[in-house]
Amino acid sequence: MDTQVLVALDVPTADDARRIVEDLHAAGLSFGVKIGMELATATGHSLVQEIAKEGIYVFDDQKRVDIPNTLKKAAKVQAGFGANMMNCMCAAGPKGISAFADACKKDDVTSIGVTVLTTKTDEECQAEFGRTALGQVNFYARWAQEHGLNGVVCSPLEIETVKNNYDLLTVTPGIRPSWSVPNDQKRVTTPAEAVRRGADWLVIGRPITSHEYGPPADNLKSVLDEIASVG
Ligand code: C5P
Repeated sequence: MDTQVLVALDVPTADDARRIVEDLHAAGLSFGVKIGMELATATGHSLVQEIAKEGIYVFDDQKRVDIPNTLKKAAKVQAGFGANMMNCMCAAGPKGISAFADACKKDDVTSIGVTVLTTKTDEECQAEFGRTALGQVNFYARWAQEHGLNGVVCSPLEIETVKNNYDLLTVTPGIRPSWSVPNDQKRVTTPAEAVRRGADWLVIGRPITSHEYGPPADNLKSVLDEIASVG
């Protein structure tokens, strides 16, 4: 599939989110959105429902982790709000992953497992998992594939390993155009590099939504032009 961009709506109110979506839409740009912890805490899932009803692709990024029974029941309720893609943490383990993947499948939602947060360094991964980030992504990707998920969240630096070993979609945060700063992200590449490495979905927040780089529509246009320039 062609690489698509999901704009992370990391804002505190529904109106802030609506403003961004309306600006991007008015500019006629191609994008989906990612609704994470901050906005879902502020709006419940009503905004997921509202945006999905407009026909915009929605990744409902709640990074669920719990016992399998709770994961399954929560995923069933969450899927009712109409998101196209949802995720759990691979740290939920094989039984949790299976429960989440099954619930998503029933509602025709693309199921994704979060491997290693893109803000973690190799040093932190060694301390937490006894492996590099790449090693731990590979470990979790195996669980994801064996227990029924459609894809994983990883950094662009791990795409090739995932693609070479598994048949999984890759959803990659840790994207920084050359004109933006890394903030807290550690395992990053530019949009063009992520596309060259085979990313299916790019999740991009601050480089698009922070007005320090310009209006969000101009920032997204610049990212889409960069992606299009990769033959
Ligand atoms: O602003 P920025 O581009 O860093 O936003 C990245 C987004 O991707 C954030 O919403 C963050 O919650 C999410 N994310 C991430 N790393 C993961 C999974 C999700 O940064 N492994």
